[in-house]
Amino acid sequence: MALSIPEIQKAAWRCPSNIALVKYWGKKGKQLPANASLSFTLADLYTETTLLCTREHPGTLVVYLDGVHQPAFEPKILEFMQRIGDLLPWLTEYGFSVATMNNFPHSSGIASSASGMGALALCMAEIHARLNNQSMDFVLASNLARLGSGSACRSIRGAVSMWGQHDDYPDSNDQHAIAVDALLHPVFQGWMDAVMLVETGSKSVSSTQGHALLSEHPYAAARFQEANRNMSRLKRILQEGDIPSFVALVESEALQLHAMMMCSSPSYMLMQPQTLSIIQKIRSFREQTGIPVVFTLDAGANVHVLYAGQQHKHLEETLFVDLAKDCERGRYICSNIAAGSASLT
Ligand code: DP6
Repeated sequence: MALSIPEIQKAAWRCPSNIALVKYWGKKGKQLPANASLSFTLADLYTETTLLCTREHPGTLVVYLDGVHQPAFEPKILEFMQRIGDLLPWLTEYGFSVATMNNFPHSSGIASSASGMGALALCMAEIHARLNNQSMDFVLASNLARLGSGSACRSIRGAVSMWGQHDDYPDSNDQHAIAVDALLHPVFQGWMDAVMLVETGSKSVSSTQGHALLSEHPYAAARFQEANRNMSRLKRILQEGDIPSFVALVESEALQLHAMMMCSSPSYMLMQPQTLSIIQKIRSFREQTGIPVVFTLDAGANVHVLYAGQQHKHLEETLFVDLAKDCERGRYICSNIAAGSASLT
C-alpha cells in the first residue's frame, strides 16, 4: 500500500437516528434496497462514537457501550469491517476500539442500528480522508453506513434523506443516500416526532430476518412497486405542502410495512394492543381538532407521532397525556426533525 500508516488514528462522531416515511423493507444484491425510501432525521436521538485504531494488534476489536465492554456487539462490527474491506484497504493494518453511547435510553426499543452504524461509518470516512490527504467524503460515509445497516445511510446528511434509485429524484442511487431538504414546503419545516414507547424490550424479528422474508413473499413485487409510486407521490406532497395527502400516505406506508410482516411466512405481529389504541386515539384527535398529527411505525410496537413544532406545547398538554397512558411507564421521547451528524473533535 502506498499510504504511510500512522501508529494511532482516532475519530469521534455524532450521528442521529431517522424515521422512514416510505419504508425500506426488502433488499437485493449486496445490501441494496428493493425500493427507494425517504426518511426524516431525528436530530435529538443520536449515537456518539469514538473509534481508536492502533497498529499493535491488527485484526482485533473491542466495543464499549457507555464504558462497559460489550462482546455481543463485536461479531456484527467485525462482519461489517470485512464487508467494507475493499473500500478501506487500510483496515487490515489496525486493531480497533469502538466506544459508543446513545442519548436515548437503551431499553427504549428505538433502533440504534441506524445511528450506531452511521456514527461508526462517519469515523471511518474521516480516517480514510486523513490517510489519503483528502477532505471528508460524506458520500463514502453514507455508502459505508449502508453496508452496515441499510437505513443508516439516510442518517448521514440532511433533515430529509432519500435512498435508492428513483426516476423522480435526480442523483438518487442504490449505493448511498442523498439529502433532499430542498423539497420541503414551508408548512413541513419545524416538524417534530414524539416516539411513544409502547414496548421497550428487544424486537421479536431483527431487520435482517425481516428483509429476508420478502424474498419468498407473495406480495413482494406489488409492495416494491407501491413503495416506488409512493416516492413519486410523496415528492409532490412535500413540495406542495399537501398535508391531507401526507397524512394518508405516511400512515398507509406504516400499515403496509406491518401488513407485509403479518402475512409473511413465518408471520410476525409486532403491534401490541397499545399500538392500536394509540393509532385510534391519533385518528380521532385529528378528526375532532383538525390538527394534523400523523402516526408512523418502525419494525416494532412503538408509535412515532409526527406534528408541526408550533403544536408541541398544546399536544403535550392534550393528546400526549392520553397517548402516554398506553406507553410503558408512561414514557415518550420527542425529537426535532433536522440534520444532526457532527464531528466531536
Ligand atoms: C422498518 O436498516 O435496520 O426501519 O439493512 O438489515 O440493517 P438492515 O435493516 P434496517 O431496516 C430498517 C427497516 C425499517 C424501515 C426503514 O427504516 O426504512
